[in-house]
Order: sequence, then structure tokens, then C-alpha cells
Amino acid sequence: MKNIIFLGPPGAGKGTQAKVAVERTGLTHVSTGDLFRAALREGTPLGLKAKSYMDKGELVPDDVVIDMLLERLEQPDITAGVIFDGFPRTLEQARALDETLERRGAQIAAVLLFAVEDEVLVQRISGRLTSKTTGEVYNRYFNPPRDAAGNDISDSDEYYQRPDDNEETVRNRLRVYHNQTSPLIAYYRERGVLHELDGQQEMADVTRQMLEVIGA
Ligand code: AP5
Repeated sequence: MKNIIFLGPPGAGKGTQAKVAVERTGLTHVSTGDLFRAALREGTPLGLKAKSYMDKGELVPDDVVIDMLLERLEQPDITAGVIFDGFPRTLEQARALDETLERRGAQIAAVLLFAVEDEVLVQRISGRLTSKTTGEVYNRYFNPPRDAAGNDISDSDEYYQRPDDNEETVRNRLRVYHNQTSPLIAYYRERGVLHELDGQQEMADVTRQMLEVIGA
């Protein structure tokens, strides 16, 4: 099993790059944010609980996230390995992941840190649009959805903005990232698996760096 972690602040491009990585490697994409949003769409107690934290830009408590993640790792599609996107986000989550992988005789092959400045992140997130039909992610400023004739259709009803993608919540998500998640940088650096990427470049350039590091 090959396991790779995509680490970085909100809006750094983890989800965008994870989709490419999955196509190229055959690993399974596991995004804890996507799992919470799916649970919310289904109206489960887990989804409703997570929503109260996500709406404020706070982290969902570790025990809830870890239980959900461990359950996801039991699914039959986890064969070749996983691209972890948005997990772990605290030292407790990182230790729980290490223990789980160790029990399976597996380990973390690489941690990719997508480095982007806060002001760029706020702009990216305020422009993020998601297709209601395909779930495909676009950006009003950097990668707008277009019709067959090439016209920008960002204002079409087909695209929506995530409820936690407003400026106030984003600023809190950034604070939370710097306080609670950034200690993972030293944690993985000490283990010799951290690779820092310049996430501020054009998407295609970030993709090139990412594929080089994961050897795809
Ligand atoms: P989650 O869904 O994981 O959100 P996030 O980490 O805040 O990350 P984002 O999805 O905002 O950003 P991304 O890095 O994937 O960027 P993207 O590729 O979309 O988490 C949401 C919430 O769930 C959390 O706040 C928390 O409450 C909870 N949660 C989730 N996991 C948890 C955990 N482990 N523990 C506790 N709580 C948890 O790109 C962003 C935009 O920029 C897009 O529009 C994209 O098109 C554009 N873009 C991407 N790359 C570039 C580029 N190079 N140049 C220009 N634009 C670009």
C-alpha cells in the first residue's frame, strides 16, 4: 500500500491536485471534508454534527474524524493505497493514522505540503465554484466554467459556492490551520517524508511538481 498525504491550508489546491494524482496512480482519494459533506447531504447525525463546526470554520473533534476515517479505510476500494486530502489536521489525528497504518504493515510514503500565502487563499476560496451535477470544482477568477462556445458561465445556477467559503469563515479556517494543523509540518519533516511544493504557481505547474514527487 502506498499512502500519500496532501497537507496545506484551505484553498491551497489539495482537492484539485488529488483528482489528478488519483487518475495517474490508481490510489483512492479520501477527503474528510468530502466525507462530512456527503454525510450532511444524507442528513445523518454525523453530517449534522460536523456542519456545526464546518460553518464556523472550526475543526470537527478528533474522535469523530478518526472514527469516520478508520471506517472509510475498511472499505473494499482501498487496495493500492490512499491519497489523504485534509487529513490529518492535528497531531492526535496524525498519531492515530500512524498507528493504523503500522497495524496494517503500511506507512506514509510522502507528505506533500502545498504552500500558498493567506491573501491568495482568501481570493481563491471566495472564487471557488462547484458544479451541482458533476461536483467538478472551478474558480470564478482562475479557472471559470465555460460553455461550448468558450463563454464564462460562472453566474449560471449550475454552480454553487460552499457555505463555509465566505470571507469571515475562511479567515477563521486560516487561523485554525496555523494554530492546529501547521505543527504537522515539523512532525512529518522529522520523519523525513515532507516535500514542500510552491502551491502558488499555475495549476499545471503545481501538477508537474506534485507528479514528480509522487513518482507518477
Ligand atoms: P475541507 O473540505 O478539507 O476544506 P479545506 O482543507 O479547508 O480545503 P479546501 O477544500 O478549502 O481547499 P483545497 O486545498 O482542497 O483547495 P481546492 O483544490 O478546492 O474541510 C472543510 C471543513 O471540514 C473544515 O473546515 C473542518 O471543519 C472539517 N474537516 C475536514 N477535515 C477535517 C479533519 N481532518 N479534522 C477536523 N475537521 C475537518 O482549490 C481551491 C480553489 O482554488 C478552487 O476554486 C480551485 O479551482 C482553485 N485553485 C486550485 N489550485 C489553483 C492554482 N494553482 N492557481 C489558481 N487557482 C487554483
